[in-house]
Amino acid sequence: MEQKIAEMRAAATAEISSSADLKALDAVRVKFLGKKGALTSLLRGMNQVSAEERPKIGKIVNEARAEIESLIAAKNSELKAAALQDKLASEKIDVTLPGRKIHRGRLHPLTLTLNRIKEIFIQMGYSVETGPEVETDYFNFEALNLPKDHPARDTQDSFYITEEILLRTQTSPVQARTMQKHTGNAPIRMIAPGRVYRRDDFDASHAPMFHQVEALVIDRGITFGDLIGTLDFFCKQFFGEKANIRLRPSFFPFVEPGLECDVSCPICHGHGGGCKVCHDSGWLEILGAGVVHPKVLEMSGYDSSVVSGFAFGLGVERVCMIKYAIDDLRLFFENDLRFLNQF
Ligand code: PHE
Repeated sequence: MEQKIAEMRAAATAEISSSADLKALDAVRVKFLGKKGALTSLLRGMNQVSAEERPKIGKIVNEARAEIESLIAAKNSELKAAALQDKLASEKIDVTLPGRKIHRGRLHPLTLTLNRIKEIFIQMGYSVETGPEVETDYFNFEALNLPKDHPARDTQDSFYITEEILLRTQTSPVQARTMQKHTGNAPIRMIAPGRVYRRDDFDASHAPMFHQVEALVIDRGITFGDLIGTLDFFCKQFFGEKANIRLRPSFFPFVEPGLECDVSCPICHGHGGGCKVCHDSGWLEILGAGVVHPKVLEMSGYDSSVVSGFAFGLGVERVCMIKYAIDDLRLFFENDLRFLNQF
């Protein structure tokens, strides 16, 4: 009997010390100390032990139980400590690592360009007006001296919705709207930024939707010289002090005389050498302009013998492409972050 107890004690000691985790240790506890465990079955053999021997054997059994219990308790706390260490190691946080960057959105290059244009004109006292993108034939054409049969209508391929309603092909209708809002009162000094629509291809230099900024100034004594001075000032502010303008005669039914305005290439300053922006021409067209046609003034309630004015319509994509040397218009509308992140 003593022998068996010693063997069990040795076996339990070995199994406890080799238990790899808490689960294995608990299995060892059940195996030796459980109701159907080794110790219980040893105790069952006590009836074969003589009465004199019983107290001695009983004592040995109790010592063995106490020993096994304390070994299990010790192993238990050892395994728990190890488990905690593992957990701490695996969940370790390195507080010295650099934080994860939060990507901030930024303004689209066209928005930046529009903001800059607005800034330049607001400092000169211009107001910012808006008009509808779905416009009437009257404001888009007729009030701008383009009656229904006017051949110049063909130069702007329009998206018509009904016979009288279309997507505006230019921001010029805001000229007529603003004049009528002011009911014949001068001065007017306004810009009107916005989207316009034309039935154009979608390629590197055309899009069926693009942006313009219209400008209109009406007052007593406004001259062609005021227009030129304003265009020159705008270009120097927007492209830099070295910018020059070049004017070419042109025709728009709502102005007389009409002109197209080019800016000197801000990339090569006219020195060529294979310039990708101006193709060595040194000049880039940016807007149409002119002195407001007397008929346009009269139609919207102004006395053309008292006041005069000038107007122009600027291509926003164009000036943005020139300023940043962007060679494909489609980049503005594709929302490729590699492009947008550069602004
Ligand atoms: N609306 C004209 C265009 O879109 C530009 C322009 C505006 C010309 C004002 C003269 C005066 O082409």
